[in-house]
Amino acid sequence: MKKAEHATIVIFGASGDLTKRKLIPALFQLAKDGLLTEKTTIVGFARREKSHEQFRVEIEDALVEFSRSKPEAGSGELKVFSSSCYYQTGNYDSSKSFHNLKELIDKLDEERGIDSAKANRLFYLSTPPSVFSGIVAMLGQSGHISDPNDRSRWTRAIVEKPFGRDLETACALNKGLSSVLDESQIYRIDHYLGKETVQNIMAFRFGNSIFEPLWNRRYVSHVHITVAEAVCVEGRGGYYDNSGALRDMVQNHMLQLLALIAMEPPASFAPDAVRDEKVKLLSAIPPIEMHEVNECSVRGQYAAGTINGKLIPDYLREGGVKPSSVTETFVALKLHVDNWRWAGVPFYLRTGKALTERLTEVNIEFRQPPLALFSHIKDDEAIEERGRMKPNMLSLRVQPNEGIRLSIGMKVPGPKMILEPKDMEFCYENVFDIEPPGAYERLILDAILGDSTLFIRQDEVEVAWTLVNGILEGWANEELPHIHLYRAGTWGPYAADEFIDNDIRKTGAL
Ligand SMILES: NC(=O)c1ccc[n+]([C@@H]2O[C@H](COP(=O)([O-])OP(=O)(O)OC[C@H]3O[C@@H](n4cnc5c(N)ncnc54)[C@H](OP(=O)(O)O)[C@@H]3O)[C@@H](O)[C@H]2O)c1
Repeated sequence: MKKAEHATIVIFGASGDLTKRKLIPALFQLAKDGLLTEKTTIVGFARREKSHEQFRVEIEDALVEFSRSKPEAGSGELKVFSSSCYYQTGNYDSSKSFHNLKELIDKLDEERGIDSAKANRLFYLSTPPSVFSGIVAMLGQSGHISDPNDRSRWTRAIVEKPFGRDLETACALNKGLSSVLDESQIYRIDHYLGKETVQNIMAFRFGNSIFEPLWNRRYVSHVHITVAEAVCVEGRGGYYDNSGALRDMVQNHMLQLLALIAMEPPASFAPDAVRDEKVKLLSAIPPIEMHEVNECSVRGQYAAGTINGKLIPDYLREGGVKPSSVTETFVALKLHVDNWRWAGVPFYLRTGKALTERLTEVNIEFRQPPLALFSHIKDDEAIEERGRMKPNMLSLRVQPNEGIRLSIGMKVPGPKMILEPKDMEFCYENVFDIEPPGAYERLILDAILGDSTLFIRQDEVEVAWTLVNGILEGWANEELPHIHLYRAGTWGPYAADEFIDNDIRKTGAL
């Protein structure tokens, strides 16, 4: 990877979970791999009183627990890294706090022989979203933001999801951010896009010539995108109950996956060329109208069950969850892409918590051959009839066991013409002997390098919310919410399988 330019990195919400589990470990790894300059400084900002020393101790503990390279407690590499970290206590709405922050950063520049008037700044907004706009306004008022046209330095802000909780709040957030920052300075992060295997979707599609000719309605019957989590709400019940699977997973990660799977080839790999194609694709999906919501979606909520031997309580008994909550912990959706390439091909999205296993996979199912040449051969030898007729399927596995699988029908050796589906498989781990960088490593480095390809643009956020809004409104309008219970540790409500299978049958794909 390219080495970053010097920058001061300020993390707002530095006492939080994300900072400890993801951001600090990512920065440590980048520094360890020699990808940050030695003069890089990290300043944590949060309301809790803390000294630089206390912050450094916390950072070292977090690195021992969460870092990819598992440094030893008290080791020299930990000390070197933590000595470049500082802490500023402050309130997110206090101009005094932001002036103090500026004084600290300028002083650190001076100690490192850096001219503050030409210094780069990366602000990471890792607080609850309710304070994002306020932080950015304060940064603007207290002179932290440089002119986007100034070639001698840059200021960038990474903004964590969620980008609003509906279209209206997303637009309000965008308005707040863009009243101070130019769009070129805003890096909205969706860590799914930092995953190697998600980026490989683009490499697979546009770096090879054999699949692209098949990538359309003539050959593809339907597409499944699955993001299954085996975890429940894990102590974040209060947050999750206000959000639900549609907002938490579909609006961002799943629509991003869909966009990468279905978009047209960009003219170049330049950030805006890629993002233009994603926006075009998302804009071609007709939003589900309020009255169609039950034809196109199934909602579920988990009830008590067992996952890997661990007892999971009812969702309604999780801390922070309202006892009468109808928040969905599972959703299955059918979407269409109304463009020349995909008209008539259903895209089924399915995501949930407390499912059997953790799995993110895209399955592209191809149409059956035009003639069923082998269908007259009857199954008299215990070979499953359905198996012989299975259509080809291409599976892109994002996590775990990242890889690609192509299922093809093959003749079973012997005197009869009997076909069985067999997989051609390619597993990353076996092919590349390199540990891939973590998603946050890749994305933070990209932000420092000024490459916004893997970050979400304002129009992408808004078009994704437009899609989700109709569904939310449709659900909110139901007198009796259609929410199906499913046992934790299963693949979700039976109604979701039925909905998808019936729909596939109706479209004639089975
Ligand atoms: N955790 C994850 O795995 C994850 C994954 C994806 C996205 N995110 C997003 O990343 C951001 C940070 O996540 P997190 O889990 O680290 O959040 P968090 O622990 O809830 O909050 C981060 C910090 O923000 C401050 N804070 C909390 N509530 C606040 C409030 N009402 N007003 C002002 N400050 C407040 C707290 O620090 P002080 O009280 O010391 O100021 C807290 O330590 C959130 O927007 C979250 O949605 C998190």
